[in-house]
Amino acid sequence: MKINANYGSLEESYLFSTINKKVEAFQAAHSSASVIRLGIGDVTLPLCETAVRAFSLAALEQGKADTFRGYGPEQGYGFLREAIQNYYASFGVTLSPDEIFVSDGAKSDIGNILDLFDEDNTVWIPDPVYPVYRDTNQMAGRKIVYLNATKENDFLPMPDFTQHADLIYLCSPNNPTGAVYTQTQLKEWVRYALEQDAVILFDAAYEAFVSSPELPRSIFQIPGAKECAIEFCSLSKTAGFTGTRCGYTVVPEALKRNGFSLRKMWLRRQTTKFNGVSYPVQRAAEAVFTPEGMQECKAHLQVYQKNALQIANTLSELGIYYTGGIHSPYIWMECPHSMKSWEFFDDLLERAHVVGTPGSGFGVNGEGFFRLTSFGTPQATQEAMERFRAVYTR
Ligand code: MLT
Repeated sequence: MKINANYGSLEESYLFSTINKKVEAFQAAHSSASVIRLGIGDVTLPLCETAVRAFSLAALEQGKADTFRGYGPEQGYGFLREAIQNYYASFGVTLSPDEIFVSDGAKSDIGNILDLFDEDNTVWIPDPVYPVYRDTNQMAGRKIVYLNATKENDFLPMPDFTQHADLIYLCSPNNPTGAVYTQTQLKEWVRYALEQDAVILFDAAYEAFVSSPELPRSIFQIPGAKECAIEFCSLSKTAGFTGTRCGYTVVPEALKRNGFSLRKMWLRRQTTKFNGVSYPVQRAAEAVFTPEGMQECKAHLQVYQKNALQIANTLSELGIYYTGGIHSPYIWMECPHSMKSWEFFDDLLERAHVVGTPGSGFGVNGEGFFRLTSFGTPQATQEAMERFRAVYTR
């Protein structure tokens, strides 16, 4: 018996689990402190009414013999895949329902997609970035090359045509920096991937926060992307599904490598290892894509956008550098007084009882930076910013 020793190269625990443990220890030692959590990007507003209605009706259907449904299609019910197809059409992307795979969220699919690729592949991962890309490749022992995302390149690394990559992770709007690639920049990435026969794994989990029609929400808005990209998306942030769980992955028919159709491979993988998302959840997700559902979700996103503005204004007032928060729920700030990321995490927790995410948890280039989320309630966000101002006024 041989264990997967690649686990030995991982940090001892997943970033957000480490944060939770630290916060729990702090709470245990300071039981009267009211801690405000602006760390993990977890939503605070409930599901929209239209989704809840559909969710409840579907649950009731499951309790009656004539409407009860057992195993559903592993790829997702047709009604939801068609709703997602129409959603993509609303920003000019034509997909067939066969190219859409419903799942329990982007995180699982981002990890599971690696089943399709040999371990002997060179992987490009921006730094800083969502730690799941790095951790899942480390678990498989793949060779990772990090792309520097820094202030100098506006946290948007571009391809080096003199180097070869097989798999490329891009996240736009970016977690954690909030940076968004333009059409022109994504065109360069697509040109690179086509030239190198690489595959782009595009994480669009925050697309709903893009508020300018000029900025791409999907890699498939770029000509040629269907021959070189897979896209992951989720209802977690768009519609408050962090606890309800529903996402989708688009694997285009045109994506072929070494004589294999990646869409067919993913279908084979999913039908073997996954039994689909529950029927009521898929009905709730379908409801999100109705005009009423979309309008209600948009109203929720506006609450988070206002929170982001409040955080941004506080940092501007204090003269602290930050970016993000416009097309993204995340604000990426420099730690005050040149503190290191974890040092600032402890300082903020101790003195203001506010939790954020240390930038170094997203990669070495995140050292000295810190991420705040706008997913708190407006009251908690305001209170957090008041405490922040009181502690960090110059
Ligand atoms: C984050 O805080 O980066 C995300 O909420 C984590 C996730 O989506 O898994």
